[in-house]
Amino acid sequence: MEQQLKQLEQEALTKIQAAANLKELNDVRVAYLGKKGPITDLLKGMGKLSPEERPKMGALVNAVRENVTAQLEQRATVLEEQAIQEQLEKESIDVTLPGRQVRSGNRHPLTRVVEEIEDLFVSMGYTIAEGTEVERDYYNFEALNLPKGHPARDMQDTFYITEETLLRTHTSPVQARTMEAKKGEPIRIISPGKVFRRDNDDATHSHQFMQIEGLVVGENIRMSDLKGTLDKLAKKMFGEDREIRLRPSFFPFTEPSVEMDISCFKCGGSGCNVCKQTGWIEILGAGMVHPNVLEMAGYDSKKVSGFAFGIGAERIAMLKYGVDDIRHFYTNDSRFLSQFHRTEG
Ligand code: DAH
Repeated sequence: MEQQLKQLEQEALTKIQAAANLKELNDVRVAYLGKKGPITDLLKGMGKLSPEERPKMGALVNAVRENVTAQLEQRATVLEEQAIQEQLEKESIDVTLPGRQVRSGNRHPLTRVVEEIEDLFVSMGYTIAEGTEVERDYYNFEALNLPKGHPARDMQDTFYITEETLLRTHTSPVQARTMEAKKGEPIRIISPGKVFRRDNDDATHSHQFMQIEGLVVGENIRMSDLKGTLDKLAKKMFGEDREIRLRPSFFPFTEPSVEMDISCFKCGGSGCNVCKQTGWIEILGAGMVHPNVLEMAGYDSKKVSGFAFGIGAERIAMLKYGVDDIRHFYTNDSRFLSQFHRTEG
């Protein structure tokens, strides 16, 4: 029995040393010291021994158990340290590596143009009105003095959804909606938003683009008010030394109607490629609100008058930032968009 015990101890010690990790070590502990292990068995078998042999064997078994336990603990300490070391090596970081650059976003150039124009008009007491992109034929055309069958409807190739609903072709329906809602009250609004036309996309056309509508209605609103307002706009967007020029034009919802040009910001008026050698650049359409439009929205055209204008945001952005293709605004190419990192306020 003593022999057997020594052999067991040897075996256990060898296995303890061979255990490669804490799990294997635990398996060894269970195998030798566990309830069903051989050492427990030996202790259980002591009853069969003679009374003289019993204490001697008892002491021997205990000594073996203590030795194995001590070795297990020692090995466990070594393995734990090893595990920590391995973990540390795995997780080690090279603090000399350059950091990853955090790329910050920036405003889209069209958003910038819209916000600049909003800032100007809000500072002059305007509020910002919103319309809907899916619009009724009534607001997009009829309430703007463009009854069904009016030839001027052809100027705006339209995406119809049904006979009566369409994707708005301009932001002007917000004029009619606002007047209807204000029920005869004075109005001072601008309204930026998306508009849609059934155009083939090319460098200067896009089936979707942005406009900013302006509308002022009240007593004694005159053409000179329109002119002064547009002059402020031109100077804010293209520089204090810009001059404006109004040319007669036609829109069914304004009378008289004008087209506004600014003096060329590149050559100052002497003629260059930006102004096509004319010294002037066409910027927007505007006019005095047509009496029919006022009347349809419930305003008394004998008592109040108004002016309106419509700006193409892409056109402003293209001129301001020298962009030669309208499609750049919509392709989400970061090489293009990242050039508009805002440096000034
Ligand atoms: N809605 C016109 C267009 O899309 C632009 C326009 C012209 C708007 C004159 C106006 C205006 O408010 O008075 O072509």
